[in-house]
Amino acid sequence: MRIYFDHNATTPLDPRVADAVAAALHDDFGNPSSVHHFGQRAKQLVDDARAAVATLIGAEPSEVIFTSGGTEADNLALRGVSDALAGQGRRHLIASAIEHEAVLNTLKALQLHGSRVTLLPVDARGIVSPDDLRAAIDDETCLVSVMHANNEIGTIQPIAKLAAITHDRGALFHTDAVQSVAKVPTEITTLGVDLLSLSAHKFNGPKGVGALWLRRGLRLSPTQTGGRHERSRRAGTENVPALVGMGVAARAAIDKLASTGTPLAPLRDRLEHGILGAVSGTTVNGAREPRVPNTSNISFEGVEAESLLIALDLEGIAVSTGSACSSGTLEPSHVLRAMGLPPHRVQSSIRFSLGLGNTEQEVDRTLAALPGIVGRLRDLTRASARSRTAASGAGR
Ligand SMILES: Cc1ncc(COP(=O)(O)O)c(C=O)c1O
Repeated sequence: MRIYFDHNATTPLDPRVADAVAAALHDDFGNPSSVHHFGQRAKQLVDDARAAVATLIGAEPSEVIFTSGGTEADNLALRGVSDALAGQGRRHLIASAIEHEAVLNTLKALQLHGSRVTLLPVDARGIVSPDDLRAAIDDETCLVSVMHANNEIGTIQPIAKLAAITHDRGALFHTDAVQSVAKVPTEITTLGVDLLSLSAHKFNGPKGVGALWLRRGLRLSPTQTGGRHERSRRAGTENVPALVGMGVAARAAIDKLASTGTPLAPLRDRLEHGILGAVSGTTVNGAREPRVPNTSNISFEGVEAESLLIALDLEGIAVSTGSACSSGTLEPSHVLRAMGLPPHRVQSSIRFSLGLGNTEQEVDRTLAALPGIVGRLRDLTRASARSRTAASGAGR
């Protein structure tokens, strides 16, 4: 039995989503821009998906712009607002230091084209301080972008407070809600934001499809030009089957949030408490609250995270060392570094992210396996340190 604890990287398809995507692929090949029956049928499917996504975040369907995923939604938000407001002398963007690369690297690109960028620090819990935003924002700020929940540690930012400060200075507020949508209620009115990014594959929908929500009446320059799709804000024939899948995933998320609240929290807590209790030298990274209910980022003192990840994978347990984009590169996590964690804790951190299909049995199997694996890895580290010392002594 293989165990998947990497739901923040991507999620398995809800079987209802898979069925709906397959049916749309098979039966609904029309182009939603065509006026005939086939086109209008496809358009209806796209409209249904738009209504579902809008309901999930408490928005109007006409304000939802479909994209190819979270990365494109972030790009469209940052580049689109920055371009639209540059003429008003607003060329300053602010973001937190722990944003996803989709935001951080887009900001780097904007900087090369003359924008000014400020990255806000986070405290040891991974939280942005409203005072730091107050100090950084000025009359040239066009956009503040702070993620709702962090992908590596799961902590939730005080978005409503940050958005209010932003609005007081006449700027717009974007939140990357890719990791919070469907995990916790993510309503645009409660958050008070102007733009919000989401991605279907993080909530049991298909990959390669997402959305940017944009408050009605706001100006946004398209980053992709062409036909008049998505009210001329994102050109290109819609990926109808993927959108159908996102719509079904959104409706499932609405039902889940309404009926069961956050059933993953007890499972995540069982895993977290179990690890802290059974494995010495373990610490949870980031604020435990507020946090999305599925994520736990834990440092295992004296263990290389990559070695632990591989050892767990050999046991059939899939976890991650951080964001999917940076794992594999052995880049130390920019999130944990921004929180001021010492290098040895950054390098020994593992992210467990739970989701659809995970069970108590899986948690217990992981808890049974971990102490032995960690013990063996620590023995190996100690043995190799001893042989290094011996070798350097012999060389003298
Ligand atoms: C916080 C956050 N933003 C953006 C993205 C990018 O989304 P996508 O994979 O749909 O491009 C991710 C994916 O890991 C994410 O975790």
